[in-house]
Amino acid sequence: MITTGNNQVMSDNTNDIDYAVTVRNVYKNYGDVEALRDLSLDFPRGQLTSVLGPSGCGKTTLLKIIAGLLPADSGEVTVNGQPVTRPGADRAFVFQDFALLPWASVLRNVAFGLELRGVAKSEREAIAEKYIGDVGLKGFENSYPHELSGGMRQRVGLARALCVDAQVLLMDEPFSAVDEQTRRKFQEDLLNLVKNENKTFLFVTHSIEEAVYVSDQVAILLPRPSRVSEVIKLEGFRDKDATSIRRDPEYLDIVDRIWASLRTYVE
Ligand SMILES: Nc1ncnc2c1ncn2[C@@H]1O[C@H](COP(=O)(O)OP(=O)(O)O)[C@@H](O)[C@H]1O
Ligand SMILES: [Mg+2]
Repeated sequence: MITTGNNQVMSDNTNDIDYAVTVRNVYKNYGDVEALRDLSLDFPRGQLTSVLGPSGCGKTTLLKIIAGLLPADSGEVTVNGQPVTRPGADRAFVFQDFALLPWASVLRNVAFGLELRGVAKSEREAIAEKYIGDVGLKGFENSYPHELSGGMRQRVGLARALCVDAQVLLMDEPFSAVDEQTRRKFQEDLLNLVKNENKTFLFVTHSIEEAVYVSDQVAILLPRPSRVSEVIKLEGFRDKDATSIRRDPEYLDIVDRIWASLRTYVE
């Protein structure tokens, strides 16, 4: 049910797996700060991979490099086999800090990516309506960002990313600013999206429980300068309901194991 391997083992077994995103031997420094050192990690298509690691280890840096927002110093990132050199329509970034237009309604915010692409108003609004429903914001189409809670704003950002139909969704600690109840609801919605949307999700979180709950695989990063210490593949939780997953001895076991491997780096 569960297989564990370091990144080397994964790289030897890539033949039969279809990867939407590959990261190979990536290095990234900010001046004297060495953020990523020889980081390699592959993201299977249609799956959700969580990236878990100590604060400041380079998770956001990794996502920005994959998004094409930041160049790597060396190494290669590919999306659908094409090297990444700049942002592209194949990827959508759900920012940690929302990045919504404060003067625009939820509907306009969600449809904004399509508006930029010149999609006609009626068509883009129909698409936006669908995803507003999918992320649980039905009834808030005409609200403005300042009228929403942090969790709701985060959902607007997610709906916007889903609208543009990017195959790869990059999510940087999207639930960090929301309360526990909202977070759980959001995690369940996310699981439904993974099931139904056939997109590849790259999900950064600092919550071990969350990572194990929502992921097909969890990659654990070492402290800076970061590389992958372990990739844990998870199967079999998908078809269970939320309550039984959280009580599943195997789930609790994996959470414990990840905690044991991360706690070495936490004072
Ligand atoms: N623009 C920048 N200039 C200088 N240092 C940076 C910059 N962005 C990030 N860093 C540093 O690089 C390291 C990794 O940052 P980041 O990718 O944001 O980590 P994480 O998302 O895992 O918390 C941290 O030590 C951070 O302080
Ligand atoms: Mg970060």
